[in-house]
This record gives sequence, C-alpha cells and structure tokens, in this order.
Amino acid sequence: MLLTAGPTHEPIDPVRFIGNHSTGKMGYALAERFAEHGAKVVLVSGPTNLHTDHTSIEVKHVTTAEEMHKAVLKRAGAADIWVFAAAVADYRPKTVADKKIKKAGDELTIELVKNVDIAAALGKQKEEWQFSVGFALETDNEGANAREKLRKKKLDMIVLNSLNDPGAGFAHDTNKITIMEEGATHTFELKKKSEVAEDIVNLIWERIYG
Ligand code: CTP
Repeated sequence: MLLTAGPTHEPIDPVRFIGNHSTGKMGYALAERFAEHGAKVVLVSGPTNLHTDHTSIEVKHVTTAEEMHKAVLKRAGAADIWVFAAAVADYRPKTVADKKIKKAGDELTIELVKNVDIAAALGKQKEEWQFSVGFALETDNEGANAREKLRKKKLDMIVLNSLNDPGAGFAHDTNKITIMEEGATHTFELKKKSEVAEDIVNLIWERIYG
C-alpha cells in the first residue's frame, strides 16, 4: 500500500517556506497499523519529526508537493491501496529566490501558483482493483465538502476531521473522525490517533477482504 503523510514545504527563498501545521502523526500511525495487519507499506512523507522502525514500512522523504507527486506516481501502479493523509500545500511561490529576500518596504507580495492535486491526479489513473482513501480537514459545511472531495478525487472512502471538534485535527494525539463512502457514513468517538488508525484500517480491510 502507498501512503502520503505530513505537510509539504514550498520554498520562498533559501531560508523560508510556506507550510502548514500538519505533524504527520495520523499518517505514521496509519502506516504502522497497516504494517501490523501484514501490509507492505511505502510511506511518502513530507517534513516531520517522526520516524518508524517497522521493517514492512519503506519511508520516502520528500519536501515539496511536486516531489511528493513524483514519488507517488512512481509507486502508485504497484499498490493495491492508496491513502492520501498528507496535508499538501495547494499553492507554491511562482518563483523561488536564489538568494535570501532582504527586508524592504512595508509590504511584500508573493505570487503563488497552484500545485497538482495528487489524490485527484491519481484518481484519473485508478484501476478497478485499487482502493483509494482520502482525508478532509474542514472548518465548515463539513459533510457536504467531504462528499464533494470523495466524488471529485474518485476516492472509495474519505476520512473527515472537523476543526470544530475539540481534540481533533493537527498536533493533537487524539482525533475524532467520520468516514464517508458512497451511500454510508460512519461516525466515531474522540480517540487516540493510534486507535483511530485501527478503526480506519479495519474498515478498509472489511471493504477489500470482506
Ligand atoms: N490532496 C492531495 N494533493 C493536494 C491537495 C490535497 O493529494 N494538492 C489530498 C489530501 O491528502 C487529502 C485530500 O486531497 O486526502 C483532501 O485534501 P484537502 O486539503 O482537505 O482538500 P483540497 O482538495 O485541497 O480542498 P480545500 O483545501 O479547498 O478544502
């Protein structure tokens, strides 16, 4: 199986980047659970402080969305299961300064261009036997937004975290999720991320192996 995790960092100049608060905890917890279930895992990880020693997990470290996309493309064809748990930056600076940008003036504008949507791009090449899982982190209109992502990215399942739930989302050791699939919605209690990962893996296993 192939899993993306963590944030991406999009460089502005040699010392600065655009990033987000993702720690990669949920993605790494999932990788470990999948490995414990006997899966051979390729974990494409953005910059995090995490590591895993599991012998069934191969970690490919990347920094930017573009690098993550390339790493995923190289490995997706061989994987039965794709899980997109990374918080990929949607935009990157249009140009990267080769020298540190010096302070000048009261305002600074950085022009951004769209990054590839890795999950959506992969959705276009998905085969019938492949199972694709995405994540959605929403602050409002959660259910409708997540269902829209499920459809647009051709996912079989989407795991929704709402930032409105205390203890859910970035940096917490706990998470409260709702899993949506075509025609069904499953809600779960607030739990440790390791237990949340177990719930997600169990449902995926049930769908694939019955
Ligand atoms: N995703 C991805 N590549 C991107 C953006 C998102 O693979 N460039 C994946 C994420 O890993 C996640 C899902 O798409 O599984 C939804 O990500 P999210 O950031 O919630 O949605 P976006 O499509 O970026 O929409 P928005 O930021 O407008 O809510």
